[in-house]
Amino acid sequence: MDFFIIMQEPAFWLSSTPVYGDVVLAPMDGYSDLPFRSVCRELGSAISYTEFIHAPDVLQRPERIRKRWEYLPWEQPVVFQIYGSTPQTLLEAALRLQAYGPAAIDINMGCPDGRIVRRGAGAGLLRTPIKVARIIRLLAQHLEVPVTAKIRLGLDDTCRNYRLIARIVEENGGALLAVHGRTRAQGYKGQADWDAIAEIAQLVRIPVLGNGDVRTPEDIERMKAHTRVAGVMIGRAAIRNPWIFSRRRREDVPPQEVWEVLQRHLSRSLDFYGPERGLVLFRKFAAQYLAPYWRDRAQRRALLTAPTPEAFLALARQVLGLPEEVVKFL
Ligand SMILES: Cc1cc2nc3c(=O)[nH]c(=O)nc-3n(C[C@H](O)[C@H](O)[C@H](O)COP(=O)(O)O)c2cc1C
Repeated sequence: MDFFIIMQEPAFWLSSTPVYGDVVLAPMDGYSDLPFRSVCRELGSAISYTEFIHAPDVLQRPERIRKRWEYLPWEQPVVFQIYGSTPQTLLEAALRLQAYGPAAIDINMGCPDGRIVRRGAGAGLLRTPIKVARIIRLLAQHLEVPVTAKIRLGLDDTCRNYRLIARIVEENGGALLAVHGRTRAQGYKGQADWDAIAEIAQLVRIPVLGNGDVRTPEDIERMKAHTRVAGVMIGRAAIRNPWIFSRRRREDVPPQEVWEVLQRHLSRSLDFYGPERGLVLFRKFAAQYLAPYWRDRAQRRALLTAPTPEAFLALARQVLGLPEEVVKFL
């Protein structure tokens, strides 16, 4: 009953969509696909952000990349993240993608990759605040779903224009802002600046998701207390510990539960990508699920090169130290 009452109250709103929870899986290229996203959603991630989607590809070769925006109905609210540098291309891609029913379309303004930044996309957009204004305004005017943005603090220490960008996103109709507390120049190094995230949360009225260096359940509470954000976005730590969305430390999750989630995740990966690709793409996740348990390098190598899902699961069960009669879901 308590659970029911707690669930009634949204943590915050994404425009008119209630969001029930204050911890969200970050969009991550190569990781936040349907299988992993849905597992995180079941464990408590409150919004499903897709991996970033190249806007020109949506228009020119959609069949090649359509898996990037496939989702399970119960994953909603689902946010499709797109990247590109031209307002018109971003709008046209967003209009096409809107037909697939996302709760919002998010513009990537944080990707630090040189090839993307040089073309003026990702964090490259932070160099052109007027273009940011045009993109957000254009999409907010023409889409039926809300538009949101994920930003960094600026390009480098000489250009930390996050206050300006945050105001621009809000003033032009953005519905939510996710903030990674680093500059483009920092990449993924150095410490995320939670003071800057706090400044933004104070500056705008739209919900802010704070992101960067949240690694433990305690960090979630620390970031919330420090910054007063509506929600906390978690990337790399969730790959190591998807149970963080249930506010659980990895060391508190027993092997039996790891086994259950690992099987569910693998099964979705096989369904989604087909048996061969599904197993190959699952290996990087398996390495993380099983990281605390390896006996030696040979065992790790044997598991990560297992040729079939059955062989893989038999080895995984051994790694986890579970008896043979343990339940199998596959
Ligand atoms: C492998 C990887 C892929 C990423 N891909 C994306 C992406 O597609 N879109 C995006 O906005 N951010 C992307 N990011 C950045 C994360 O969303 C997040 O902002 C960053 O990892 C900092 O959060 P963390 O300290 O919790 O990992 C990626 C990060 C990693 C490590």
